Amino acid sequence: MKTGLQRQEENIKFLRSVPLLQNLPTDKLAKIADVLEVDFYHEGDFIIREGAVGDTFFIINKGEVQVTQKIAGFDDPKEIRRLDRGQYFGEKALLSEDRRTANVIALAPGVECLTVDRESFNSLIGDLNELKEKDYGDEARGAQRTSGGSDTRQ
Ligand code: CMP
Repeated sequence: MKTGLQRQEENIKFLRSVPLLQNLPTDKLAKIADVLEVDFYHEGDFIIREGAVGDTFFIINKGEVQVTQKIAGFDDPKEIRRLDRGQYFGEKALLSEDRRTANVIALAPGVECLTVDRESFNSLIGDLNELKEKDYGDEARGAQRTSGGSDTRQ
């Protein structure tokens, strides 16, 4: 059995290996490790649904996810990216207080994410320039702006 302290140290070590967070001082990483939660998803689970409102930021600890998006002129959402350990998603709805811009689906054999809620994201992570400068090229791809959709918070 691991103690809470061992788990905390493991989480800090992992957070330090996440490229987005690599320049943060240890006290900030420790604060993130204090507030994060660990969530598991099975293959095929929609971790995020395009068009939903959202309050959670995700960092992948284990496994791989597929990002899909509705593209003008196509009936079914198209795969636009795969993300794996050390990569993150779910920041856009938190930065702009807008709807989720894509689906994020767990791939086999399942995914473990470290999750941070909106409040902690705002105070500890949301100011990082990498996030603000990120451009996924949605307009060039013909992504449809989703204004409605599910009101389940994800
Ligand atoms: P958000 O809009 O909150 O929820 C869906 C997430 O998918 C989004 O934040 C991004 O983190 C991620 N995402 C959207 N578009 C792309 C893309 N083109 N490449 C990688 N990730 C994306």
